[in-house]
Amino acid sequence: MSKTLKDIPSPKSWPLVGCLPHYYQQGFDKRHLILNEFAREYGSIFVENLAFLKNAIVNDIQEYSKIVKADGQQVDRIPLDPLLHYRRSKGLSDGIVNGIGPKWYESRQLVNKKMLSKSFADAFIEQLHDVAIDFCQKLENDKQDTDLIFDLEFFIDKWAVDSSFIFLFGKRLDCLKGDDIEFVRNLQSVFDILHQLLFSIPLYKIWPTSTWREFERRCDKLFQSALELCQQNQVESETSTSPSLMNYLLLDKNLSKQVAVELTVEMLMGAVEAEIKNADYRNINNITYLKAIVKETLRLYPVTYSTSRILNKDTECGGYELPRGTHVQANLYTMGRNEDRFRNAKEFIPERWLGDEGKNNLVFCNWIFGHGPRLCLGKRLAEEEVYLAIFEVNLSRVI
Ligand code: HEM
Repeated sequence: MSKTLKDIPSPKSWPLVGCLPHYYQQGFDKRHLILNEFAREYGSIFVENLAFLKNAIVNDIQEYSKIVKADGQQVDRIPLDPLLHYRRSKGLSDGIVNGIGPKWYESRQLVNKKMLSKSFADAFIEQLHDVAIDFCQKLENDKQDTDLIFDLEFFIDKWAVDSSFIFLFGKRLDCLKGDDIEFVRNLQSVFDILHQLLFSIPLYKIWPTSTWREFERRCDKLFQSALELCQQNQVESETSTSPSLMNYLLLDKNLSKQVAVELTVEMLMGAVEAEIKNADYRNINNITYLKAIVKETLRLYPVTYSTSRILNKDTECGGYELPRGTHVQANLYTMGRNEDRFRNAKEFIPERWLGDEGKNNLVFCNWIFGHGPRLCLGKRLAEEEVYLAIFEVNLSRVI
């Protein structure tokens, strides 16, 4: 008789809270390390119970390929519940990141072609390059006295917001130049609290806990300032010929302004959540070694250390029959450090992404941005931003 979901091994779980105490003890920022330990103990697949959610965690590239192959035209991930709860309580649409089923598909089709086209990313290369130069300048200025850069994450978030503004609105926000930008700090807080809420019992759904109230306050502020920014730019966008996303959506006569603004705000949040001579920066996409450096960095430090699917059909994985509806997660951190797959896996060797060896590993590397019809909408833009920033940091040898 074939083995099923209930036969998959699982780390110690407690009533109601499941595996959460493992994370409480060590900290949620260590989740990738804890999953790595579990993978060592349980092999290619194990089940993680998180209060009301059961995750089948897959640690093996070959096995997760089966999940990728099962992707249909319309696929679902589990929503980020606190954000979904917030959006619904404010009468906003579920959006793309948290949307499921036909509603997700409909929203996604509005921006899919535009966001993933090479010409869209290329249209902003000069302005993105200017942001990269300012980013390096800021790092250079900040480290002058100490040789250390404090609050690097804050600078990176500012760089991500400034870069995103260019392709969303066709202009700079210039927060890299300002001393302190409330918008960026607020955005950071939203993600910090979101993380806390994601890994706790969702009491906020029945009672507005103090953490929830703080989350709601921060989100309100964020949406309010993002909407103001959108509205200021909207006036210009309607009359401009800028190739920005906002302009593209506003020119679509079938879309309301509200939907155009909501989608643009969502892209802005998506952009910040995920982030981190003589060659000419305009040829940046042809610089093979630079691309290999980025691939190698994301292999060792995948920004989103897991990607996931809710199975839309029964699928065999790791020797178990997983029923439709199972939530399956790829443990990208562990996969990227597998010694059988990557020689000297703990070492930083960009060369492994060149030639035939690189081609063999490409499947895994692409998953860093997800897969199939739900692939990250910012993939092209994020890659271009990162190439330009590394190019400039390297030229000016800031770090
Ligand atoms: C290094 C940077 C980034 C990484 C590693 C990353 C990674 C990911 C991953 C793994 C997913 C899930 C895909 C799936 O389920 O198959 C995703 C989704 C998404 N990303 Fe990114 N991302 C990055 C940057 C960005 C940027 C710059 C934007 C905005 C322009 C963005 C917008 C989105 C959106 C809107 C989705 C949801 C797509 C959907 O559910 O249909 N991301 N990203």
